[in-house]
Amino acid sequence: QDSVAVGLLGVGVVGSGVVNLIEKHQEKLSHQLGCGVRVKSALVRNPDKVRDIGADMNGITLTADADAILDDPEIDVVVEVMGGIEEARESILKAFASKKHVVTANKDLVALHGGELHEAAEENNCDLYYEASVAGGIPILRGITDGFASDHIEQLLGIVNGTTNYIMTKMSQEGLSYDDALKQAQDRGFAEADPASDVEGLDAARKMAILGRLAFSTYVNLEDVEMTGIEEVEAADLQYGDSLGFTMKLIGFADFDGERVEVNVQPALISKEHPLADVKNEYNAVYVYGEAVGEAMFYGAGAGSMPTAAAVMSDVVAVIKNMHRGVTGGQFVEPRFEKRLKTAEQ
Ligand code: NDP
Ligand code: HSE
Repeated sequence: QDSVAVGLLGVGVVGSGVVNLIEKHQEKLSHQLGCGVRVKSALVRNPDKVRDIGADMNGITLTADADAILDDPEIDVVVEVMGGIEEARESILKAFASKKHVVTANKDLVALHGGELHEAAEENNCDLYYEASVAGGIPILRGITDGFASDHIEQLLGIVNGTTNYIMTKMSQEGLSYDDALKQAQDRGFAEADPASDVEGLDAARKMAILGRLAFSTYVNLEDVEMTGIEEVEAADLQYGDSLGFTMKLIGFADFDGERVEVNVQPALISKEHPLADVKNEYNAVYVYGEAVGEAMFYGAGAGSMPTAAAVMSDVVAVIKNMHRGVTGGQFVEPRFEKRLKTAEQ
């Protein structure tokens, strides 16, 4: 096979990064894989819209008909970067039914329907990977699965929402109002279309559900994650914490005591000596404590076109390597533990 054909569902911020990355690093991809990678077609709402994405779009067929991609026998890998839940879910299920491997960046979908998608992937002998769904460009899902494969993760703390971290950094360090800081986060493009899911903690809760599942090999559903957002946080709270040697962050917390899993998201005061205290602006970080490894921290860009595309492409490479070996893998961890969440009394 000269090249593996990819079908893109979406050529927005992330999808255009994927097209750029494939163009820019084709030689490296071919060297690793022994074949090329090409985007054959891409789903958009309006195929006639003129698009300047900084890469050559000639040779990529734009279509508003998802079936043109999902039924195309030449396409082996479907990359879902359209966002939303229902249409994305249906398209991914259809891709599996057509025996195509799937890579998605869709945290909303994976947090809600990850179990169903994994089952469909397994039934059809297909891969499902979603590295970009948590913390954008940081290879955190591979880090906590492959990296900690023989270790026991005791605790995981994450700053996994860039918008809220940006707002709190700007409020505490530059005296910006909450509204002005949120506006800046929106202008810089990392807030969700409806920023309520950022500031209410839902976006972080989705990511923590995914992290909790993979870190502790158990099912953590979104409704199991308790969340408190940052809407009530005031500049005075941040300054008071600061004067006592603490920094306030929206922290995702996941812990497993050998019997019970606890996952929550809330604004928390952390000591300025903790490595997470230095994670500023829109940056993300995940701090992991492993029984053997001890402390480890993963830090970097949690959003943005090229960082997120790099995570998506790491999955595409994994899928193609699996195809060549004739195996399937994916971010599937057979749950070892029945879900037992801690209650407030415990
Ligand atoms: P965009 O809104 O920038 O792009 C969405 C793309 O999908 C567009 O090309 C759009 O078409 C197409 N699309 C959406 N819905 C439909 C539909 N119903 N039919 C046909 N085409 C459709 O989204 P992003 O690239 O920012 O995000 C994509 C995914 O990646 C989301 O799940 C998001 O949560 C996730 N993600 C994004 C990050 C980021 O930094 N942006 C970071 C990590 C994850 P058209 O161009 O015609 O409008
Ligand atoms: N709105 C998200 C954030 C984008 O602020 O982190 C990346 O998932």
